[in-house]
Amino acid sequence: ADPDPLQDLCVADLSASISANNFPCKPLSEVTSDDFVFDGLRKQANFTDAFGVTVTTGNVLSFPGLNTLGIAMNRVDIEPGGINPPHSHPRASEIGIVIEGKILAGIVTTENVYYSKVLTAGQVFVIPRGLVHFQLNVGRKKALTFTAFNSHLPGSTVLPLNLFAAAPSIPVEVLTKTFLVDEDAINNIKSKFVF
Ligand code: GLV
Ligand code: MN
Repeated sequence: ADPDPLQDLCVADLSASISANNFPCKPLSEVTSDDFVFDGLRKQANFTDAFGVTVTTGNVLSFPGLNTLGIAMNRVDIEPGGINPPHSHPRASEIGIVIEGKILAGIVTTENVYYSKVLTAGQVFVIPRGLVHFQLNVGRKKALTFTAFNSHLPGSTVLPLNLFAAAPSIPVEVLTKTFLVDEDAINNIKSKFVF
């Protein structure tokens, strides 16, 4: 989904003050072998959120060597019973492989058609660009998945956080009218997303 590169390599200079729809390249004289290696997906971070999922991102922001290459990779650790909640990636399709555990992977199209499948180790799934999708751990052990994207910064719109944890908040009236419920129901949901 990203534009094609215009040179062999362009390790991002994330500290540059000017950028236009990408990051400038750091000088070639400063590029080292380490710029092409990322250790950030080696291990699981601590589970920190309400969903029992940790998504560790290997995109241009964490791995500047990806700059302009149109690819990225995540590590997704899900606790038993945990969920990587419904979300979409505005700038990339996603391909994933289950390494361990058992997940229910679901997709919903723009026509509100739902596709899903229970997947185990070695199975590969694909999520078309922009479509809402989730992974629910339906096994008894933790689930580990690696996902890859055709963008160096795929972006992730996580629906519950977008709607209920935006800062500043979306007006409650918008949410009561959107979900056809009263304020208590909205405030109850919001209270769960104060991390
Ligand atoms: C999984 O859906 C991910 O976005 O890494
Ligand atoms: Mn995803």
